[in-house]
Amino acid sequence: MKILIFETAAQAAERAAHQIIDKVQARPDCVLGLATGGTMPPVYRHMAQAKAQGAVSYALVTTFNLDEYVGLAPDHPCSYHHFMAQELFDATDFSPTRTHLPYGNTADPAAEATRYDALIQSQGPIDLQLLGIGANGHIGFNEPTSSFGSRTRIKTLTKATRLANQRFFQDGEAPPNYAITVGIETILESREVVLLATGIAKARSVADMVEGPLSAICPASALQLHPATTIILDQDAASLLKLKEYYFQVHPNGQEAPIV
Ligand code: PGA
Repeated sequence: MKILIFETAAQAAERAAHQIIDKVQARPDCVLGLATGGTMPPVYRHMAQAKAQGAVSYALVTTFNLDEYVGLAPDHPCSYHHFMAQELFDATDFSPTRTHLPYGNTADPAAEATRYDALIQSQGPIDLQLLGIGANGHIGFNEPTSSFGSRTRIKTLTKATRLANQRFFQDGEAPPNYAITVGIETILESREVVLLATGIAKARSVADMVEGPLSAICPASALQLHPATTIILDQDAASLLKLKEYYFQVHPNGQEAPIV
């Protein structure tokens, strides 16, 4: 794992955005795995800015989002379809025919999950997968005790996750109990992974992911098995890492240090 620690959350988000932009510049028809959640809008703002400045075009990029709530239609304001349109797709030139999220409002969500995994397999592998992490160590909606061999499927959300995401819902509406999420094995098949975590609420799960045992109780620890993962942190999210000084020595201020 490459661990990059930045002074601020804004710098960490900018670094994550640049890794994605660099990938698209190098391969305009690459396949990206995208994420939702409160950590991601600053990343997507940088991506939109790069497009507005003419530095990059996303027109040929294919995207697969990690997850969607079961029961929410794409036009529901709390759906992840809506989140992605608002935070990224509407402000850029991503093609609607190449951007994919699972549909949460189908009659048979289990069949939808199988269809979605097969679509990723047929168009993948994902070149670069962007991830956040939950305070409980989840990636996507792979909640604690998810199998490292899991594929896209329905997961029951924990009370902690539903509470954490309550802030995105209004008027007494509660987050759904179930979501369709890309599985851990599906994530591990990506060529490259970039996980962005900021804020003190993530310090424990980040330490468990990077320095804890491989364990289904911290699903993100599965990334220890992935050969090309970059973990991008701010000081708060990095604060419980035992080897924090070492990571900073290897990549001072998140930069590549020359080997001399
Ligand atoms: P957050 O969620 O970005 O809203 O903190 C991350 C996650 O739960 O994966």
